Amino acid sequence: MIAPFSLPPAPVHDLTSQQSSNNLKFNTRKQEKGLIVLGIETSCDETGIALYGSERGLLADALYSQVEIHAEYGGVIPELASRDHIRKTLPLIQQVIDEAGIKDADIGGVAYTAGPGLVGALLVGASVGRALAMGWGVPAIGVHHMEGHLLAPMLEADPPEFPFVALLVSGGHTQLVRVDAIGEYEVLGESLDDAAGEAFDKVGKMLGLPYPGGPHVAKLALEGEAGRFKFPRPMINRPGLEFSFSGLKTFVRNTIAEHADADGKLEAQTRADIAHAFQESVVSTLSIKCSRALEHTGLQRLIIAGGVSANTRLREVLEAAVAKVDGRLFYAKPKYCTDNGAMIAYAGCQRLLAGQTSDLAIEARPRWSLESLPPIHHSESSEQS
Ligand code: KG4
Ligand code: ZN
Repeated sequence: MIAPFSLPPAPVHDLTSQQSSNNLKFNTRKQEKGLIVLGIETSCDETGIALYGSERGLLADALYSQVEIHAEYGGVIPELASRDHIRKTLPLIQQVIDEAGIKDADIGGVAYTAGPGLVGALLVGASVGRALAMGWGVPAIGVHHMEGHLLAPMLEADPPEFPFVALLVSGGHTQLVRVDAIGEYEVLGESLDDAAGEAFDKVGKMLGLPYPGGPHVAKLALEGEAGRFKFPRPMINRPGLEFSFSGLKTFVRNTIAEHADADGKLEAQTRADIAHAFQESVVSTLSIKCSRALEHTGLQRLIIAGGVSANTRLREVLEAAVAKVDGRLFYAKPKYCTDNGAMIAYAGCQRLLAGQTSDLAIEARPRWSLESLPPIHHSESSEQS
């Protein structure tokens, strides 16, 4: 689904050590009330816009989901996604500015998702964000989408302190990351094939549920009978922190084929029982690997982020797992687990406060490694959370 080409990378400049030549003069327009950053998220099928203030927290946020546009195709159509972001981005920016009761001139920086994601969709937010920053005479920063997710629990009232282990579970990624500070990431393990959210979506499709399947599978699983089916827990017997969900998907497909009638239909209870067994399998696999990552790192704080972290059963099982090691689990409110502008505004604000900014070239990177991000050399930024 992702276009097989990448635009030439535009480096993130660390202006604490280097002054950019072709960039706008670095001026965060920091005012007494801190730095207000506009966040723009358009990496996939949600237009998320927010304003985050370093001293005042989240000022306003708005989200437009394209789910109805893509639902009839059973998945995201990149071209339709880009076209819709074009329609929604500027009106939503105006909306959050009005809701926050601020003026354009109060905005001291712009953060836009620069990747990973669908290149055409990314280009909308990147172009609008970069152009607004240039027009307003403020710096812009291209934010890594998964860093946005990873930092979303920082928007909560009682955020985790560093270091911690992060389980990133979205539609495109499943990763366990050791996080020592913003930008200090070590990927401990990741999925070798499907991401957890992707597996939920594919199983949802097999069960005839609407797109995206994750929340629908979770809802159907509540009606399932525990223990009727037991699906494999992929890769738990192998050492390491890698994941693989494609075998489980095949197991589900075979189970559906075995129990379907001549028209390929499943009895309602069987459908719910399969959803239940599938969710248990994913959740317990994720939980086993999280416990292993905590043991491996000797850390006690676990954060979960990304769309699948909204899953209630996952939260419940992980709460029990961290309790066993006297640890703590952190997560964002459900609306900040899935794609949103607030996480991008927050991540961008931290990087801008540390003096980092992207130059005038518009950045859109379909693929982008989390580990390649520059660390934040804290000065004033360490206290912002
Ligand atoms: O983070 P996200 O909004 O977008 C990406 O960056 O991919 O994650 C979307 C994914 C989808 O696969 C969706 O089905 C899944 O998160 N998801 C869930 C739940 N809510 C969203 N999966 C399981 N249970 C949920 N409650
Ligand atoms: Zn996401």
